[in-house]
Amino acid sequence: MGKERKTIGVLTSGGDAPGMNAAVRAVVRMGINRGFSVVGIRRGYSGLLANDMDDMDLRSVSDILQRGGTVLYSSRCPEFSEQRNIKKAVENCRKAGIDALVTIGGDGTFRGALDLCREGLPCIGLPGTIDNDISSSEYTIGFDTAVNTVVQMVDRVRDTSQSHDRCSVIEVMGRHAGHIALYAGIACGALAVLVPEIEFTIERDVVAKMVSSLRQGKQNFIVMVAEGVGHAPAIAEQIESLTGIDTNAVVLGYVQRGGSPTARELVIASQMGHHAVELIEQGIGKRVVVFRGGKVVDLDIEEALAMHKGIDMDLYRVANDISI
Ligand code: F6P
Repeated sequence: MGKERKTIGVLTSGGDAPGMNAAVRAVVRMGINRGFSVVGIRRGYSGLLANDMDDMDLRSVSDILQRGGTVLYSSRCPEFSEQRNIKKAVENCRKAGIDALVTIGGDGTFRGALDLCREGLPCIGLPGTIDNDISSSEYTIGFDTAVNTVVQMVDRVRDTSQSHDRCSVIEVMGRHAGHIALYAGIACGALAVLVPEIEFTIERDVVAKMVSSLRQGKQNFIVMVAEGVGHAPAIAEQIESLTGIDTNAVVLGYVQRGGSPTARELVIASQMGHHAVELIEQGIGKRVVVFRGGKVVDLDIEEALAMHKGIDMDLYRVANDISI
């Protein structure tokens, strides 16, 4: 006789992202609404291995929507690639009475979820990373808030660049992807956007544009650089030596990972958490919840992990064509 009340586990994994709390809240609230018990697992897969978990109730997720970060904490867990640890995690879930798991994180988190599925534990992945570099989803939890944070920071930098006729090179996050740089570059009116997905030269893609713009009266510049192409200080030095324009560097770093989530973030993250529980309620596992065609849908994890997403070339052309 199967136990009456099924239990859902939920965890956040990898780099934290604003909006993760909204997804966790939606899983807990929808789960309890549909008659499940819900267990919160702390510090991602590390917590699963260490049995670091607690029952969640409706009030466990009160007043967290507006908070960045994750109330369940997070971690990167390289040891989770070992088969013995996958088996240990499944055994820990069995002992805790967890029947299905919702894992919120990046592609690495999805790979861990697939390994758990292969050991018999139904899992649903939610895309949570500020990088927006999960190929199966047009959107990842954290991205909109991170881009808005960059825009707010650059607005401050632009004030001083204007006062001193300077060029400011802004380095943004995106471990191997230029999505934050591209979106923020357009939103900030950057003269140039340098991303790891597209070849560039400082001479052609930055200096030549600056010289042309100077002739047309432009007196200050923003250059947006994804961390994957290099470090802003070195790029700034190169620009200054080639142009003679006073050029500084701003590495935004971890401010992009925090802050109160935007409304768009909260809505999409809540939809994704809700959808994850609907899948579990239908007895469906081995899926990732993704944003495609403006809707929250779901895909098989293996299919999702096999997909490739490059940089949006239409957006890249916009960034270049209007930054003259
Ligand atoms: O993957 C998200 C991300 O913020 C990247 O943009 C960044 O390069 C990386 O995490 C930083 O990793 P950590 O938080 O482990 O230092």
